Amino acid sequence: MTFHLDQKVGDIVAECPPASNLFQRYGIDFCCGGNRPLRAALEQKGIAADQFLAELEAAYATAQKQADPSAVDWRKAPYGELIDQIVGVHHQYLRTELPVISAYVTKIFHVHGPHHPELARLYQQFHQLKMELDMHIQDEEARVFPRVRTYEKTGSRAELDEALACLDELEQEHQGAGDLLAAMRETTRNYTLPADACGTYAMTFQKLQELEANMFQHVHLENNVLFPRLRAEP
Ligand SMILES: [Fe+2]
Ligand SMILES: [Fe+2]
Repeated sequence: MTFHLDQKVGDIVAECPPASNLFQRYGIDFCCGGNRPLRAALEQKGIAADQFLAELEAAYATAQKQADPSAVDWRKAPYGELIDQIVGVHHQYLRTELPVISAYVTKIFHVHGPHHPELARLYQQFHQLKMELDMHIQDEEARVFPRVRTYEKTGSRAELDEALACLDELEQEHQGAGDLLAAMRETTRNYTLPADACGTYAMTFQKLQELEANMFQHVHLENNVLFPRLRAEP
């Protein structure tokens, strides 16, 4: 057996990235809730441990077979490359997609709001999330990531300490974003489309679910990989 119940959820995803799909399918939070042992996460959701471990081992075996030899292990990659991945893939996604999704959420609120009052709540929750994320990624790119890059190049302990001092606040903001994503999922009853939904409605829900999945991967790389590595520096 590769995995066991005392392992932390976030460490399992760091070791086997495709496991994130499995956790998502079972509704287990692996990014902000990544610090819990697998046992606790399964108990909380009432999921049978044997069954879950078997699926996890299967996902791992499939991943091993398909493994791209050039796939990067972010636990070992240089900080510069990990940060390039976070900014180039995940922050860039947010900069491109948040305005697009905003237009969709606004449109369905205006068109369908009269028959679906929960869309007012969705509109408000999404725009709260958008505002928070816009500031959050800006903050990471201005105050934290440059210091990590400098630390990697020069070994400057002062730069590392400045970056470390920001991490608790960033983690709290991740929790806030995770809570809003969960609230949006509740508002939309797990993104269940009503019978009178149009194509725009369907597209909006699809994009919101993509946003959620992208955020889970993004926060995972920060909370479970980057931040613990920085904190473990001698
Ligand atoms: Fe980020
Ligand atoms: Fe972040």
